[in-house]
Amino acid sequence: MSEATKNLSLSFLGAGSMNGAILRGIIASGHDPQLITATVRSDNRVAELRELGINVLVSEEDPEANRRAAASADIIFLGVKPVGITELCEEISGSLDAQKVVVSVAAAITLSSMQSHLPAGQPVIRSMPNTPLMVGAGVVGISPAASVSDEQTKLVTDLLSGSGDVHVIDEEQQNALSAISGSGPAYAFYLAEAMANAGVAMGLDEKLSIALARATVAGAGKMLSNPDADPATLRKAVTSPKGTTEQAIATFDEQGIPKIIAAGTQAAAARAAQLSEELG
Ligand SMILES: NC(=O)c1ccc[n+]([C@@H]2O[C@H](COP(=O)([O-])OP(=O)(O)OC[C@H]3O[C@@H](n4cnc5c(N)ncnc54)[C@H](OP(=O)(O)O)[C@@H]3O)[C@@H](O)[C@H]2O)c1
Repeated sequence: MSEATKNLSLSFLGAGSMNGAILRGIIASGHDPQLITATVRSDNRVAELRELGINVLVSEEDPEANRRAAASADIIFLGVKPVGITELCEEISGSLDAQKVVVSVAAAITLSSMQSHLPAGQPVIRSMPNTPLMVGAGVVGISPAASVSDEQTKLVTDLLSGSGDVHVIDEEQQNALSAISGSGPAYAFYLAEAMANAGVAMGLDEKLSIALARATVAGAGKMLSNPDADPATLRKAVTSPKGTTEQAIATFDEQGIPKIIAAGTQAAAARAAQLSEELG
């Protein structure tokens, strides 16, 4: 993290699963927690957030919480549910200026939709993070509006890259990225779940089967985390001709698993497009 990035004041408006994962990742990568303010609606998560050493404001108790948090920050992460994003933009718009960058982590909410509820020319970035950011192994796709300077994009990239890979992409690609990396951690957990259930069906003790599936998916993920790793090459390296793994992969192919995965990801992207229509 550069010196300029380290000194940024950050606000997280809404600090649930996603914004909570991002702020934990940023703290783990060395950002001073005292430079971070989070807002939540109720006091449910306040104690665990305060344990991180950050400032926490509760909007139900303090109607100015979001505006105050926005006014004090250089970068403002909007992390409420998609349906609340434009209302939040309206709420904080009087606390913004052109030096501040607003970053939305909400699925489906377009830049133009946010821009119509923010001051003209406000730097705003649409992003799609994923929860492994919490453990320093996330992926984020960011799409800056034309109002965002290269320097501002660099600062946000630097801030997030301590906890994962950051890709700057055209906004048109956000739904596809969301279907692969945004929802993707759930697919990996689903695979581990299916493997564990398959082990039980073959007579393994349930606890043992879950332990085997968990460690196997996590270990394979670690091997894949090398930026030079290619999934197909790694798979071929553990698939001996006429061996057991070859039988499994041939069965997956026969049963159409790659097509099923393509159909699932297309359904996720289509749902994101539909949500953009409904909420945009
Ligand atoms: N979860 C994921 O894997 C994932 C992945 C990519 C993107 N996202 C995006 O992340 C966003 C949040 O999703 P989530 O899963 O993190 O939801 P979540 O866990 O329900 O978190 C929402 C947070 O917003 C707070 N909040 C609601 N209204 C507020 C207000 N008016 N002022 C201040 N705080 C308010 C909630 O506070 P209380 O808890 O007190 O109600 C909570 O801390 C969504 O837009 C979603 O599209 C999520």
